[in-house]
Amino acid sequence: MEVKTSLLDNMIGVGDMVLLEPLSEDSFLENLKNRFDHNEIYTYIGSVVISMNPYRSLPIYTPDKVEEYRNRNFYELSPHVYALADEAYRSLRDQDKDQCILITGESGAGKTEASKLVMSYVAAVCGKGQEVNKVKEQLLQSNPVLEAFGNAKTVRNDNSSRFGKYMDIEFDFKGDPLGGVVSNYLLEKSRVVKQPRGERNFHIFYQLLSGASDDTLKKLKLDRDFSKYNYLSLDSAAVSGLDDAANFRTVRNAMQIVGFMTDEVQSVLELVAAVLKLGNIEFKPESRCNGMDESRVKDKNDLKEMCELLGIEQAVLERAFSYRTVEAKMEKVSTTLNVSQAYYARDALAKNLYSRLFSWLVTRINESIRAGTKARHKVMGVLDIYGFEIFEDNSFEQFIINYCNEKLQQIFIELTLREEQEEYVREGIEWTNIEYFNNAVICDLIENNQNGILAMLDEECLRPGTVTDETFLDKLNTVCAEHQHFESRLSKNSKFLNDHSLPHTCFRIQHYAGKVLYRAEGFVDKNNDLLYRDLSQAMYKANHSLIKQLFPEGSPSKVNLKRPPTAGFQFKASVGTLMRNLQTKNPNYIRCVKPNDKKAAHIFTESLVRHQVHYLGLMENVRVRRAGYAFRQPYEPCLERYKMLCKKTWPHWRGPAREGVEVLMEDLQVPAEEFSYGRSKIFIRNPRTLFFLEERRRQCLQDLATLIQKIYRGWKCRSHFLLLKKSQIVVAAWYRRYAQQKKYQKIKSATTVVQSYTRGWQARKLLRELKYQKRCEEAVTTIAAYWHGTQARRELRQLKEAARNKHAVSVIWAGWQGTKVRREYRKFFRANAGKKIYDFTIQRIMQKYFLGLKSNMPSMSPTDKNWPDRPYLFLDGVHTELRRIFHHWRCKKYRSQFTEEKKAVYEEKLEASELFKDKKALYPSSVSQPFKGDYLEISKNPKYQKLNSSVDEKVLLADVVNKINRANGKGSARLFLLTKKSVVLADHKTGQIKASVPLPELASVSVSSQTDGFFALKLKEGSASAVKGDFLLSSEHLIEIITKLHRIGAKAADREQLNLDISDEFLVQFKQDKVCVKFIQGSPKNGNSASCKRKNNRLLEVSVPTSP
Ligand SMILES: Nc1ncnc2c1ncn2[C@@H]1O[C@H](COP(=O)(O)OP(=O)(O)O)[C@@H](O)[C@H]1O
Ligand SMILES: [Mg+2]
Repeated sequence: MEVKTSLLDNMIGVGDMVLLEPLSEDSFLENLKNRFDHNEIYTYIGSVVISMNPYRSLPIYTPDKVEEYRNRNFYELSPHVYALADEAYRSLRDQDKDQCILITGESGAGKTEASKLVMSYVAAVCGKGQEVNKVKEQLLQSNPVLEAFGNAKTVRNDNSSRFGKYMDIEFDFKGDPLGGVVSNYLLEKSRVVKQPRGERNFHIFYQLLSGASDDTLKKLKLDRDFSKYNYLSLDSAAVSGLDDAANFRTVRNAMQIVGFMTDEVQSVLELVAAVLKLGNIEFKPESRCNGMDESRVKDKNDLKEMCELLGIEQAVLERAFSYRTVEAKMEKVSTTLNVSQAYYARDALAKNLYSRLFSWLVTRINESIRAGTKARHKVMGVLDIYGFEIFEDNSFEQFIINYCNEKLQQIFIELTLREEQEEYVREGIEWTNIEYFNNAVICDLIENNQNGILAMLDEECLRPGTVTDETFLDKLNTVCAEHQHFESRLSKNSKFLNDHSLPHTCFRIQHYAGKVLYRAEGFVDKNNDLLYRDLSQAMYKANHSLIKQLFPEGSPSKVNLKRPPTAGFQFKASVGTLMRNLQTKNPNYIRCVKPNDKKAAHIFTESLVRHQVHYLGLMENVRVRRAGYAFRQPYEPCLERYKMLCKKTWPHWRGPAREGVEVLMEDLQVPAEEFSYGRSKIFIRNPRTLFFLEERRRQCLQDLATLIQKIYRGWKCRSHFLLLKKSQIVVAAWYRRYAQQKKYQKIKSATTVVQSYTRGWQARKLLRELKYQKRCEEAVTTIAAYWHGTQARRELRQLKEAARNKHAVSVIWAGWQGTKVRREYRKFFRANAGKKIYDFTIQRIMQKYFLGLKSNMPSMSPTDKNWPDRPYLFLDGVHTELRRIFHHWRCKKYRSQFTEEKKAVYEEKLEASELFKDKKALYPSSVSQPFKGDYLEISKNPKYQKLNSSVDEKVLLADVVNKINRANGKGSARLFLLTKKSVVLADHKTGQIKASVPLPELASVSVSSQTDGFFALKLKEGSASAVKGDFLLSSEHLIEIITKLHRIGAKAADREQLNLDISDEFLVQFKQDKVCVKFIQGSPKNGNSASCKRKNNRLLEVSVPTSP
């Protein structure tokens, strides 16, 4: 549903100044400030839009905003330039009314921006399509071109338009754009040659120098450095936020889109370059013979380059700077120019060159954007023109501008009133006389053909003779003195004679927007706008297509003695055309206001705004608008808006809207003089009434809102309550279920506990019973068992008793039977059986004995003394015999293992045993000593080599023995050798043989029966050896020596054996004497060995220690 809104909704201050109560300049400003502070930069005065420059980008120009304002009624939304553009566009398209949008305001107030917003809005909402888009693009792109050449940085605005611009946009019947026409007014050409401090020349100069390629600059003979050019002020050459180089590219691109040819662009740039070069031409004076100074070009280089650029003959131009030709009545008079005149001429040329170039550009753009068809089309004009200018020092330009604004005000009044009047007629309202100030009289003061100021000025300029600004002022003083809006000190009007605020050189005009003081100085000159003919002719001669076009008056074929029209005249004419043009159209006004001089956002300088409000005539505007009825509104929206104020019309009115409004007004008791009913609208005389309605509506809305709120809250609370209730039931149900569940669980578990206790008790009871039963059973069983046991044992006893008795009977019986039998058989048995039983028993015993012996045999070692015991005494003999046989057998077995040598050794041992066993006490100790024989190792030891070799036979025994000296019984060591044939005694040390006794000469050997080693070798009497006597010797190996000697001696002497005497007393034959050797038992003090002592000549006593 589309919501019907109104400008009156959410208003900050009042959106329409017409509704301001009370209306005063202060409340007007207050309202503007209030809205400005809230970013509401637009405010209406009826259908006029006041626009405050915000100096910052606001988010109110988005495509969404365009859509919002599209096709909406003017008062439906908050004030906006889009609302005005939409209104204009729609009445153009739908009502076939040509429109003009008049944008005024001082420099920097936002006029150009507003005009662009209007154009962009129209471009956005009008038809689309390839062709249409191209036209739109061309129209929009004409702006950058014109801005580059016509805008400049001033102290008020970095992009100030230095010309007035009016653009007609042409549409077809559908509202699609077809093309356009641009008109320009009064370019501020003086800027070309001189700029006020802090300002710049036109943008294009800076753009060209910063943005053109090196190549282009070279072609144009330019240098990138701004400081090289006299016409370019340096102090603000670079403007922050303005990228000249980028803008240059934009401009060239725009020119291309608009349809400029490449060579045209080149020509334009050449002209721009030429202007810069022109500024660098300087002059010097040269005295002439007639005493006058004549100017000469100082440095001809710049002149030359400029002439080359424009294809002008240098000499021609040079001359034009030195001479001036005045033609009068077919006569040519040539006068020289002094230096200042030359400079004047130079600057005039530069200004003309540039302004004509600008006009040419406008024409050229028009050629491109002009609508193609001749068909009738609708037109929307956009006028971006300077507003009233009231400076401290106002000159010709301000005069012209203010004149233009007077004319616009004139149109405004005319059109507004006319429209107002037409509306009244249309609506059938009685025309009430509106009182307002009509500025026609001021316009008349300026433009009257007979005595208007402009006419006076022209008259002065054309008048022969000396003409100065003073003469012009004098003239004004005489002609206009009577005029009520003209003030001058020198006029006859005595009123100002003593007004010191009015200098003598000035005049003052009371414009509709305030009084402005003009300084007369320069008026004549500026109006003349003189360019010496020589210069225009020189230009015409240029070999440059564009220059030629720009100076048509230089053509020789057009020699025209008439002066060119003055600036004032031209302007008046173009303003006249413009006014006629505007008068045919429906006007829409945008009044731009500048909030501060600092180009800063958020600052509202009241004095400045008050000044603007003043000279823009805004208060006038409001008054005119309020002259009749302040407010009007069609019946439908009016009824729609206020129907809630009356019960009859609320909520629906069924009848026609007008009747509804009538009922409403009656009901509200609005005084009848406060409003009138038109055909389709209601007209409200006073804003007060409207506000009364609005206030009532606001209250009513509040009540309605309260009602709606009440119902809504009730509904909300109820539905909330119902929801709560529903939820509560659900929650309660769930809770109850939960609680019951819990309770059930509790009961269940309690029951289980009780049950378990009961069951336990029952079980225990049962158990007790069962246990008792069991015990009873067990007791019974035990008793029964015991009883049975007793029974059984008693029975067993009886049985045993019976059995014993029975056995005793049978034993007694058997004994008696046996006795009886034995008694009967005794006599048979004794006769035979006794011997057989004996044999058998003996046999059996023997068998048992042999088998037992067999399994109990001792070991095979001959030294083993073990033998099993004899079991029966009667086996004694057999047992000893068996032992002996077994011993022999095992000795034999043992012997059979011996080698020959060992056998010999044992044979010797055996012999020793036969000889000495139980005869000599020494013997047992020798049994364990092996018979080694050669104790000296005679064959191996080199010491005995000689001895060995001197003995023929093999040595069987070699030992050291002691030879007992018969004199003292002491022994001396001798080597004792025994061979098969002899016994040899040798010196112990030298080995020399002392005695050698052949064995056959040996008679016998004597030894004692004791443990000593003494032995005597007795020789056969009469033998060779016997001469020296017997030998008494002692040796540790006595048994061995004697045994060996015994064996060998026997063999050698072929006798049975050698005699061996074993006796403790024997005789030994020493040479002649016989000495008795006696062996006695020695005391232990004599040591372990036996010792020999000579007792007397016939006795040697040997004491032998007692063996332990
Ligand atoms: N509606 C706007 N929104 C934002 N900035 C604006 C607006 N109108 C003007 N301006 C700012 O103010 C400057 C001057 O505006 P401009 O239209 O060139 O002034 P005028 O043409 O009146 O001399 C602009 O360059 C821009 O920065
Ligand atoms: Mg501008």
